[in-house]
Amino acid sequence: MNSQSKPHILFTREEVEATVKKLAAEIGKDYQGKCPLLIGILKGSFVFMADLIRLLDLPLEVEFITLSSYGKGKESSGKIRVVKGLRAPIKGRDVLVIEDIVDTGLTISFLLDYLRKKKPASLKLCALTDKPSRRQIPVTIDYLGFTVPNKFIVGYGIDWDEKFRYLPDICFVEVED
Ligand code: IMP
Repeated sequence: MNSQSKPHILFTREEVEATVKKLAAEIGKDYQGKCPLLIGILKGSFVFMADLIRLLDLPLEVEFITLSSYGKGKESSGKIRVVKGLRAPIKGRDVLVIEDIVDTGLTISFLLDYLRKKKPASLKLCALTDKPSRRQIPVTIDYLGFTVPNKFIVGYGIDWDEKFRYLPDICFVEVED
């Protein structure tokens, strides 16, 4: 794969919009009367998060966290660390983590364990996409947008080497291993 790889549409912007609306309806119902803290994992979740929160009629708050994985290329090594953490305590908060894609599950498992130790009142996961064929660790996704095939996903905030985040559709690019 190189930076000239042509993205192919997997889910159109209309399908994405409808799915984000559906997720917002579910989340809005479940968190009614609460003031959830949505934690987005940078950078991949920022477009999804921006659309999602504007459809939620809740007094929610937003935080972002940056993780790094000591891996080579597109493979996650599983050795993950928090590069930029939370600025406020989450103890007693209803925390909803917003992720772009769950692949092996290593990243999100690490983050959920990390957050759980900080004793939130509740901890749930909302993922835009899920690639279950690659899973190494079981992950419960409370709110899921799309199940995707074992392809390299880009667009709607998701990158390949910082490219393609701006695409409004969820796409895939061909990977030559
Ligand atoms: P995991 O730890 O293997 O589950 O990987 C999760 C992270 O790897 C995601 O948050 C993405 O940043 C990245 N990732 C995994 N699969 C893809 C993909 O198909 N396209 C772009 N990024 C991906």
